[in-house]
Amino acid sequence: MPAFIQITDTHIVPEGQLAYGKSDTAAALREAIATVNGVLPRLDPVECAIITGDLTDFGTCAEYERLKATMADLDLPYMAIPGNHDARDTMRAAFADEAWMPDVGPIQWSRDFGEFMLIGLDTLVEGSHHGILSDEGFAFLDAALAAANGQPVVVATHHPWMHSGVIAMDTNNLRNGGALLARLEAYPGSARMISGHVHRTLTTQIGRVTCQIAPAPCHAVHLSHLPTSVNSLIMEPGGVTLWQWHNAPQPCLVSNVIPVGRFGGPWPFYG
Ligand SMILES: [Fe+2]
Ligand SMILES: [Fe+2]
Repeated sequence: MPAFIQITDTHIVPEGQLAYGKSDTAAALREAIATVNGVLPRLDPVECAIITGDLTDFGTCAEYERLKATMADLDLPYMAIPGNHDARDTMRAAFADEAWMPDVGPIQWSRDFGEFMLIGLDTLVEGSHHGILSDEGFAFLDAALAAANGQPVVVATHHPWMHSGVIAMDTNNLRNGGALLARLEAYPGSARMISGHVHRTLTTQIGRVTCQIAPAPCHAVHLSHLPTSVNSLIMEPGGVTLWQWHNAPQPCLVSNVIPVGRFGGPWPFYG
């Protein structure tokens, strides 16, 4: 059954630097790739990976080149959408040879997995941390939903609309996400929204749409709902997300957050 891996918020910085002076994001990505490559032989076939934004920390050429060089070790092809830490034209230039990269406009694409359609949308507002889906983005979404024609859809964005309770992150969510959710609510098939940005694992149901935020391989955003809290990073375990279609007990897309790293085991439960 079709499947893909979601990696998000890789935040690659130039060689020799740490993100925010603390987080070795390149090492975390290398570990994430090792984790994915290690588990792939034990999984039903996985078609590809996606990166849901914040590929780099500052959107520079050097960072994209470092990201690409690191990702070359992944045993899967991948596609990407930008986040608030990316720069659209620099990202476009870095991936100009990829079939999924549009020549102009928002970095958006769709991929038909047979059982479901994955639609990647660009919510980057250059120079801002919050997200907005542009008119071109809505037009692309409408066309993709029309083409999907009732097939289950998964919409991937960097910015989520759902809130996490972390005030600084929620302030910088997908500000016009309500209009996107209304499209999905009206869609005749099942619909799901998957995002990044918050560097934590969260799931909710908004109307009939399941919304999920994936963890990053590197640092997490510190969990605090206090208005007095300073928005902070914390080195909690990283993760990648496996999205796999299952036909039993009913057709559905199952998410499986895989912790990044090496752990004791596996050991047989008995004998
Ligand atoms: Fe991020
Ligand atoms: Fe972000």
